[in-house]
Amino acid sequence: APDITSICKDASAGIRNQDAAVRTRKCCPPSLGKTIKPFVFPKEKTVRMRWPAHAGTKEQVEKYRAAIQAMRDLPEDHPHSFNSQAKIHCAYCNGGYTQVESNFPDIDIQIHNSWLFFPFHRWYLYFYERILGKLINDPTFALPYWKWDEPKGMPIPEMFVAEKINGKANPLYDGYRNAAHVQDRLVDLDYDGTDKDIPDQTQVACNLSTVYRDLVRNGVDTISFFGGEYVAGDSPVANNDPSVGSVEAGSHTAVHRWVGDPTQPNGEDMGNFYSAGYDPSFYIHHSNVDRMWKLWKELGRDYPGHVEPTEPDWLNASYVFYDENEDLVRVYNKDCVDLGKLKYNFIENSKEVFPWRKSRP
Ligand code: C2O
Repeated sequence: APDITSICKDASAGIRNQDAAVRTRKCCPPSLGKTIKPFVFPKEKTVRMRWPAHAGTKEQVEKYRAAIQAMRDLPEDHPHSFNSQAKIHCAYCNGGYTQVESNFPDIDIQIHNSWLFFPFHRWYLYFYERILGKLINDPTFALPYWKWDEPKGMPIPEMFVAEKINGKANPLYDGYRNAAHVQDRLVDLDYDGTDKDIPDQTQVACNLSTVYRDLVRNGVDTISFFGGEYVAGDSPVANNDPSVGSVEAGSHTAVHRWVGDPTQPNGEDMGNFYSAGYDPSFYIHHSNVDRMWKLWKELGRDYPGHVEPTEPDWLNASYVFYDENEDLVRVYNKDCVDLGKLKYNFIENSKEVFPWRKSRP
C-alpha cells in the first residue's frame, strides 16, 4: 500500500450503481500531515479476550455499546470516527488506492479475493479494537465475535437488532439490513441470494457442514485456505476467481449477502465492500472470520497443510492504518501471524469447540 494520505481517489470499482449509492464514495482517510511510522508491538501484559457476541455479559455488552457510541460521537473527520473507520474498507477494497506508487501507479489495490484477505482484515480489526478501548479508557477492551459456527450463535446477535434502547438510538443498529433476516432467523452460511425456508434444525446442520467445508475439505493447504497469490503488479482478482480462499468465498461472503439489504441499489450496507464498514455487525463478523484463521491453524495438529504462506511477497505485503494514538503506521503481513504478539485472543467455550468437526457433508 502507498502512503494512503497522498495517494487516494474516490471509490468506484465494484460499485454497480454508483449514482444511487447510499454511502459516500469519498473514502480517503483524513490526512493530518503525519509521516508513516513503523509498527511497534503492544507492550502491555493483558491479553484482550474477544467474546462470543450471543453470550456476552451485561457488562461486556454495555462497554461495547458505549465504545461504539463514543466512536459515533467523534467529529466525522477524526481518523477514529465511525465513518473514518468504515471508509478504510471502502478505500482498500473499491479502488481508493493504487499500488506502491513508484512502480505501479495505474493498478488499483484490492485486498479481497486473494491471500491478502486474512491479514488485511486482521490488522484492520486490531486497530479498530484498540481505538474502541481507548475511547472508553479500557486497555482490556475486546471485540465480540459473531459465533456463527455454533448453533446458539447463528442468528444476528440480539444486541444489534433493536433500533432504540430506552428511547435512545442503539449504536449497534443499522437501517440498511435485510429486515426479514435480522428478526430471529438463523444465518445461512451458504446463502446465495435466495432464502431456503428450511427448518432451523436443518439450517443448523447445513451451517455446520459449511464450516467443515471451508475449514477442512476446501481449505486443505495454504493457498486453498488463504487464497491465491496476489503480488505487486497484479490486477485486482475477481470474486468468482477459483483461487479465492475457502472461507472468504464461502461462509464469509454468504454472511455479507445475508445481512445486506437486497432492496438497496448496491446491497448496502453489508452487501458491498464500499458500504460494509457502516454496519457494526461487519466487525464482529470479521472477528469470527479472523477466528477461523486461528481455528484452521489449530487444526494443523491433524492436517499438516494448515500453515501460513512463507513467500516474501506475502510476508512483506503492507498496509497503512491510523493507530489508537492517531499515528499513521505501516504494518506487514509477517507481523500479524502470531496472535500472542498482538495481545488478543478469543474466549472459547471448551464444551462447544468445533461442533462442526463431526459435520462432514
Ligand atoms: Cu473486506 Cu468481509 O470483507
